[in-house]
Amino acid sequence: MRFLLTGGTGLIGSALSRALCSKGHQVSVLTRNSDRARRTLGPDISLMTSLEQWTERQEFDGIINLAGAPIFDHAWSERQKRLLVASRVDFTRHLVQKMTQMSVKPRYFLSGSAVGYYPDGNEPEVETQQPGTGFSASLCTAWEQAAIQAQSLHIPVTLLRTGLVLGTAGGILQRMVFPARLGLGAVVGTGRQWMSWIHLADYIDAVVWMLERPPVSGPYNMTAPVPVTNREFMDCLCARLNRTCRFSIPATLLRLGLGERAALLIEGQRVVPERLLSEGFDFRHPTLAGALRDLLEK
Ligand SMILES: NC(=O)c1ccc[n+]([C@@H]2O[C@H](COP(=O)([O-])OP(=O)(O)OC[C@H]3O[C@@H](n4cnc5c(N)ncnc54)[C@H](OP(=O)(O)O)[C@@H]3O)[C@@H](O)[C@H]2O)c1
Repeated sequence: MRFLLTGGTGLIGSALSRALCSKGHQVSVLTRNSDRARRTLGPDISLMTSLEQWTERQEFDGIINLAGAPIFDHAWSERQKRLLVASRVDFTRHLVQKMTQMSVKPRYFLSGSAVGYYPDGNEPEVETQQPGTGFSASLCTAWEQAAIQAQSLHIPVTLLRTGLVLGTAGGILQRMVFPARLGLGAVVGTGRQWMSWIHLADYIDAVVWMLERPPVSGPYNMTAPVPVTNREFMDCLCARLNRTCRFSIPATLLRLGLGERAALLIEGQRVVPERLLSEGFDFRHPTLAGALRDLLEK
């Protein structure tokens, strides 16, 4: 099949591009920087640098939309919030608009979202739950709404409500391992907030599994079956690295240093992948201990 990926150079997108290519699919990636994308992705992937380059002659069986400016790297000023919204919501709107112009529509449209859609707290969140409040939830809701517009073109829209993706080439794990190796691993706030995580390999397998079945619509929680608290996460990570987690960072200090985005660390959602499990997806790494063993032994 032929796929167009946005965000195809990122942690998830580059692994997905490689997985789809290795299965014999043709992959095109929409990127803002073709030189960097070529270096990251190698020669087998076609590149586009603007949606205008998608012409009627290029028919795609599926679109996988993962583009988005990094959410944690910069303070959430009004300007930064606008960038986070533009790179997800406005970008997705343009993508759907482009689909309206194509006489042959894609059969699959998988579009990003995040577990930040759900309210913070201790209740297990399944796909039917209502969204939370606050910036992350409103960003995810608007991002999903922009994608859902494709349903008016009779394209089923699959929403990927993504948890913390654990891989070694970037993302949260890479940031946590360095201090933890130095014996500086620290619990955040009370440590009781939930971390809904997923091994990158399971994420990629789940997307490929979706693309090998008839297209389906609606949200999927892209998280492992066993979410953990921040305390459990840190203890498990430090134990794997033969260290002890001795420190904790007070929430007030994080709020002072990080402002509103501290919420991403201090609060969390307990998300359960009910749909993946009930529809028969088989996780390779259902537990954090197993996932970290696999990731950190490489
Ligand atoms: N990784 C996680 O733990 C996690 C958790 C929840 C949700 N997600 C979401 O899943 C998606 C993929 O995650 P990821 O970890 O692979 O992200 P990533 O490594 O940060 O890559 C995101 C991609 O988005 C594109 N991008 C960055 N800034 C952009 C901008 N201002 N405008 C348009 N495109 C921009 C980049 O492509 P080019 O530079 O090639 O244009 C980049 O390859 C993201 O939207 C992210 O928010 C990820």
